[in-house]
Parts: sequence; structure tokens; C-alpha cells
Amino acid sequence: MAILVTGGLGYIGSHTVVELLNSGFEVVIVDDLSHTERFILNNIEEITGKKPVFYPFDLRRRELLTQVFEAHKIDGCINFAASKAVGESQMIPVDYYENNLFSLINILQEFKAREISNFIFSSSCTVYGQADTMPIDENTPLKMPESVYGKTKQMGEEILIDFAKAYHRKISLLRYFNPIGAHPSGKIGELPIGVPDNLVPYVMQTAAGIREKLNIWGDDYPTEDGTAVRDYIYVVDLAKAHVAALKKLIEDQSAETVIDIYNLGTGKGSSVLEVVKAFEKANHVEVPYQICPRREGDVIIAYANPAKAENELGWKSETSLEESLRTVWEWQKYLNSRN
Ligand code: WQD
Repeated sequence: MAILVTGGLGYIGSHTVVELLNSGFEVVIVDDLSHTERFILNNIEEITGKKPVFYPFDLRRRELLTQVFEAHKIDGCINFAASKAVGESQMIPVDYYENNLFSLINILQEFKAREISNFIFSSSCTVYGQADTMPIDENTPLKMPESVYGKTKQMGEEILIDFAKAYHRKISLLRYFNPIGAHPSGKIGELPIGVPDNLVPYVMQTAAGIREKLNIWGDDYPTEDGTAVRDYIYVVDLAKAHVAALKKLIEDQSAETVIDIYNLGTGKGSSVLEVVKAFEKANHVEVPYQICPRREGDVIIAYANPAKAENELGWKSETSLEESLRTVWEWQKYLNSRN
């Protein structure tokens, strides 16, 4: 079975391609290389011994996407391709709506025309905004996200739900909490382009001396140590959840229309300071930091109740925060060796 993986050379995409290939799926990647580099494709082959088909183009090029569906029997899609920088999305909202939603709609037009089902969507816990109670489960009411990025994720979910209902198709919306870490081989990981937005890549670059010090955005939150709390899930565990969600859709012959929704997290919250200390302990390095004012749009606390995914997908996040952070440092050392 050939699975289309959009953004398949990106951070979570590349780790998911590895797990798909290891599970015996054929993979067709479309990636415009705007947030990654081609060497990731070679490293996927090194890790798995298999070379996925790769097309380097922007999914808004509908005519090129049609050619992919004409050349391959596509049986499902995992859609990662999207712009994902929260801060940037506030500055160029129209570009975010166009890229994230036009790309999705182009794929769905092909799925509609060719009667294809099994669509996995890369969504985010950001659709919950600041949830009133913890842990966050799938029945938690959605709130209009603060960021344009988050709004594109919520709109993407709505588009897919309407698609599944109208055309009787099977979809799975995967709401990630905070993905971190790198593949144990040290050959794929998060390629921060420019100044990292996210905490862990910034911690990594600070420890490596690329950044002078980490800015901790706020230590006056109503949490144990005053810094904000998130649910940091190891990227390989997250990738395995995608394969489990896809297999469930493929095997689910019970109904034509299936709308699965899963929160993918560890179920444990960690503060910014706890992440910094865990990184230092795991890798015997120092991460200099300074406390700064809060970052606009940040929620105070967000961690998952992963019980639904555990029960229905037979999946569980197994990797500790420290082990995830150890893989990050190995990845930085690999990047240093390439330069
Ligand atoms: C985590 C915590 C920051 C950087 C976003 C998206 C989510 C997903 C992951 C794509 C916060 C603090 C961060 C820094 C800091 N996106 N921080 N100094 O904002 O929880 O989630 O990225 O998949 O959809 O919403 O992640 O890593 O940016 O921040 O203090 O230099 O670390 O304030 O409390 P976030 P993050």
C-alpha cells in the first residue's frame, strides 16, 4: 500500500516515514524543502534500507499533485505539510491560511475524485487554547486558538470532518502536544531553520554555544516553579502513533465514515525549568538562561490525557523526558560533524 506523506522530509514527517517503511508500507513523499534539507532523504534510506519516492514541489501546485496520483496508487495520506511558526503566523496570516489550507484542499480534491480514504491530519493541542481543566482529553471543548497557526489547524480539522461526512471517508485527527527529540540513529531530527521558536531546539543550540543564552519566557505563572508547563512527547513515539492510527483506519471495515480524534502526549506535564535541568543532567552540559517577560499567546499549562489513543490504538508513549533530551544532544553532535 502506497501512502502519500506530505512534508515527509520535515521533523515529524521524516520520523513517521521511517516507521511506515519499517512497517512495510510504500511511501511517496511530497515536500517543498522549505523547512528541511534533501540529505534527510538519504538518511531515511540509511536508517531503513529503503528509499521512498520523493517529489520536491509545493502542494499548491495542483497540476503536479495530480501527476503524483496518476503515477502511484495512493491508498492513504499523512498530511504534515504546513507552516508552523506561531509567531510568524501572526505577521503573515494570509500566507499561513493559503499555504496550510490550499495544500490540504488540493489533496482532498484528489481524494474525492479518486474515492480514496484513510487520511491522517497533523493537528495540535493548540486547538484547545488554555483548557480549563487538566489533563486535556478529546472531550475538552475547543477554543479559538490565539495564533493564526492554531486557527489553520482548527479549520483544517473542520474541513476534514466535512469531507469525511460528505463523501463517507475515514479520517484521523492527531492532536500533538509538544514533540521533542531525534531518531536514536542520530541521523534525523529537528532541523531548526533560523532562530528556533520552540524550547528544546533553542536549549540544544544554547548548550552547543550557537545561542548565548536561553530566554525563559516568564517565571510568574501559577505553576510549581513559576514557568509554563507542557507535555513533551518523544518524536519516535509520536511517529509510531501515526502508523497505529493509519492501520486502524485501513483495518476498520465497520463503517464507511470514520472520524477518529486522538490527543498524543505522555500524560505528564513538565515546566520549562524542569526541561532545562533535565537536559543538563542527561547530557552533562550547561544551559545558561535568563528570565524574560511572558511570550504573548502562551498558555500556562497543557498536558494530555492519552487514554483514548492508548486504548483504541494500542499505543503508549514510552520514552522519558531525559532519554528524549539525550537524543537531541546526539543529533546536535551529528549536525556539528556535518559542518
Ligand atoms: C514551550 C514552552 C514557551 C522557547 C507550539 C505550538 C504547537 C507545536 C509546538 C508545532 C512555552 C517556553 C519557548 C524559548 C521559552 N507546534 N519557551 N523560551 O508554544 O507550547 O507549542 O510549538 O507542531 O502547536 O503551539 O511550544 O516549544 O514554543 O514553548 O521559555 O526560547 O517553552 O514560553 O512555555 P508551544 P514552545
